[in-house]
Amino acid sequence: MLGLSDKALVRTGAFINGQWCDTDERFAVTNPANGETLVLVANHGADGAEQAVAAAHDAFKVWSAKSAGERATLMRKWYQLMMEHQDDLGRLLTLEQGKPLAEAKGEVAYGASYIEWFAEEAKRVYGDTIPSPSGDKRVVVIKQPVGVVSAVTPWNFPNAMIARKAAAALAAGCTFVVKPAAETPLSALAMAELAKRAGIPDGVLNVITGKDSKAIGKVLTEDPRVRKFTFTGSTQVGKLLISQCAGTVKKVSMELGGNAPFIVFDDADLDAAVQGLLVSKFRNAGQTCVCANRIFVHASVYEAFTDKLTEAVEKLKIGDGLDEGTQIGPLISRDALEKVQNLISESVSSGARVVAGGESVDKDSLFFKPTVLADVSNEMPVASEEIFGPVVPLIRFDDEQQVIAMANDTDFGLAAYFYARDIGRVWRVAEGLEYGMVGINEGAISNPAAPFGGVKQSGNGREGSKYGLDDYLECKYLCMGGI
Ligand code: SIN
Repeated sequence: MLGLSDKALVRTGAFINGQWCDTDERFAVTNPANGETLVLVANHGADGAEQAVAAAHDAFKVWSAKSAGERATLMRKWYQLMMEHQDDLGRLLTLEQGKPLAEAKGEVAYGASYIEWFAEEAKRVYGDTIPSPSGDKRVVVIKQPVGVVSAVTPWNFPNAMIARKAAAALAAGCTFVVKPAAETPLSALAMAELAKRAGIPDGVLNVITGKDSKAIGKVLTEDPRVRKFTFTGSTQVGKLLISQCAGTVKKVSMELGGNAPFIVFDDADLDAAVQGLLVSKFRNAGQTCVCANRIFVHASVYEAFTDKLTEAVEKLKIGDGLDEGTQIGPLISRDALEKVQNLISESVSSGARVVAGGESVDKDSLFFKPTVLADVSNEMPVASEEIFGPVVPLIRFDDEQQVIAMANDTDFGLAAYFYARDIGRVWRVAEGLEYGMVGINEGAISNPAAPFGGVKQSGNGREGSKYGLDDYLECKYLCMGGI
């Protein structure tokens, strides 16, 4: 089915309490590269979400009582199965999401790496012993899983955004319910199939599929049995979900929108900066929250950098993600494509100049040409909004303090990047940027050992790294008297 060698990885029912749960009414999952329907998937609503929460609630007792080592063994098996099925999972991901196959397989490995990482971290959830202020008492801190965790995840990374939340939750001893984006449920369901084969007990991991995000999201954010909610997606939706969690005072962690500055100083290695920008900007056709969104280039190297970049961008190969050599796949939807087109048109009417691309490949498909825009200002919509498309807006700057101020002049604070060689400048700029993650002479910053997350309206909490378990644990203080 769908050209996979392991046909059972294509699942179309929601995964609740270890069972595949279908519905009478289903919704179509389509291939953005050609608009064709791939399969029909169960269309659950609030009832399905409640069943998933109940299953996770029941399973919590058993899962949290397992030793960290027992959980780690099952999670490691899950990781191994994901890597064994990397080709099939990659193909499925390209079919539903559109990204080039090499990138899709890379995402599968990236997602799996979080499962491996947290399987190892599970064994290092240490408590604390604190010197007591009085001789007849002892002060001890233990860490315990928060309980049932619910999650809503996006279409741009259908595997990895689930993996890094679920892995931390399961490692900590929590149980998990996820609602994947309706555009890309197949990767989530295939991951659930592999979790089942790995022996992860029923109810520990649940995947609820459905088109009615509002109804499902309401259950996942308001049900009192859910103790923590985590979301990756837009800031606008994130704010709404945070407010829904307020009624039951849930722990929340949010990976929200970005507006990443990418600064090229006059002492930068320009060739390295071009390569770093290609990696950061064109991953997933520019549809990532950490994509370079505003490119600030020092006036003295602006022309040289623009020429080198344009030459590289014009060589990028656009096409169906399954075609050999494709580097830029389709955008996810017609709305996404129109948004990109409008941002370019508005900027051009305010004085920006199209140096490469600037339009869709044809009027019917979702392919957009990689675009370079020169003479952009920080105030134009293409610089103040998250583009989520393959567009590079180039802005001139003259000095360090001015560019730090421009880079920070946004409500967002997820990722930032800069290229410079002067060591004093490297420290000043790294410390001056108000962002959760800073790439210094580097365009690819994501990995499981590092804390992924933002400040300001880009969210809270961290995913991955030794810090990534904290959001899934409660710290309990034991005061022992009578000694
Ligand atoms: C995102 O765009 O939301 C995630 C990107 C990453 O994990 O690198």
